Amino acid sequence: MSNKKELNDNLEISLAYEKLFMPEFFSIENNYTLDKAFAISNEKLDEVFKHIDLKGKSVLTVGSSGDQALNCILNGSKDITIIDANIFTRPFIEYKIAAIKTFDYDTFSDVFIKNDFFSWKVYSKISHLLSKNVQMFWDTLILDINEDSYSYEFSAKTIKEKMLFVDHRDRHSLFYTSKSIYNKLQSALNNEDINISFVASLFQDFPKALNKKYDLIYLSNIYDYYKGEEAELFEATIDKLYKKHLKDNGIIIANYSFNKSIKDAPKQLGKHMLEHKEVTRFSEGEKNKDTICFIKKKSKINKQYKKS
Ligand SMILES: C[S@@+](CC[C@H](N)C(=O)[O-])C[C@H]1O[C@@H](n2cnc3c(N)ncnc32)[C@H](O)[C@@H]1O
Repeated sequence: MSNKKELNDNLEISLAYEKLFMPEFFSIENNYTLDKAFAISNEKLDEVFKHIDLKGKSVLTVGSSGDQALNCILNGSKDITIIDANIFTRPFIEYKIAAIKTFDYDTFSDVFIKNDFFSWKVYSKISHLLSKNVQMFWDTLILDINEDSYSYEFSAKTIKEKMLFVDHRDRHSLFYTSKSIYNKLQSALNNEDINISFVASLFQDFPKALNKKYDLIYLSNIYDYYKGEEAELFEATIDKLYKKHLKDNGIIIANYSFNKSIKDAPKQLGKHMLEHKEVTRFSEGEKNKDTICFIKKKSKINKQYKKS
């Protein structure tokens, strides 16, 4: 009982617990963060990905709520690598995907928005779809903690509070608000051969944690976390990703700049010129302008052709 109490108190999670249940995340020392994961993205992702045809394309994206990856799937990608330093992202994203695969739109909306997303009732229907380690993580949280004196609501609520930053006011991805888009996503997840892999890494270590090239690299607003002297580290890492992990004609979305119109957004990142696309995001009825800043890699053939 006292162990269980300790476990509950340290849900943001004690090193021993992490090492015990999710060893693959901790093979690289300190290569993680313990921030809460976003339950729903606050980025206007349907607008961001709307103009990018991802059919047959491979994507590298930060994890966060999983919404970035899910929008890529809706736009045709079947090869997605999710990379994040936050240890909560993988268990949460796998849980969300398993729930989308399992529940119809109304049930998903109902359980996801309500507190019982992490209840035994929900978990028992989706757990078989989780990877082994993630299943072990949730088995411990949901089954063991619910077992004795902890009330079911208390632990479901605790999981939510400790693990997630939850803001359900604005659901910017269409599959949350449109039944037909949800069904399209569910069908893709259930019927198409989609490969989703997870990598745990801090941003500056992304280049060495990866071993392939991508058509699209989506970095959310990690840039905003790299201020002052650290900006150079961000720029150097972007350059390595560009050289080692971006295919010809590929795109790095280097930053999603909140509340910035194109004229206020950065024009250059290290040695790379940025291109821009402005998106409109309504939040609580208010209209906001955000700008995505991206780098395009021209194909070598095109470059040679231009020279001759
Ligand atoms: C930049 S955050 C912002 C949340 C975002 N606006 C959304 O829609 O979810 C997105 C993800 O980046 C991850 N992240 C932030 N800084 C990181 C870093 N230095 N290295 C690796 N991942 C990082 C966070 O863990 C989070 O899951």
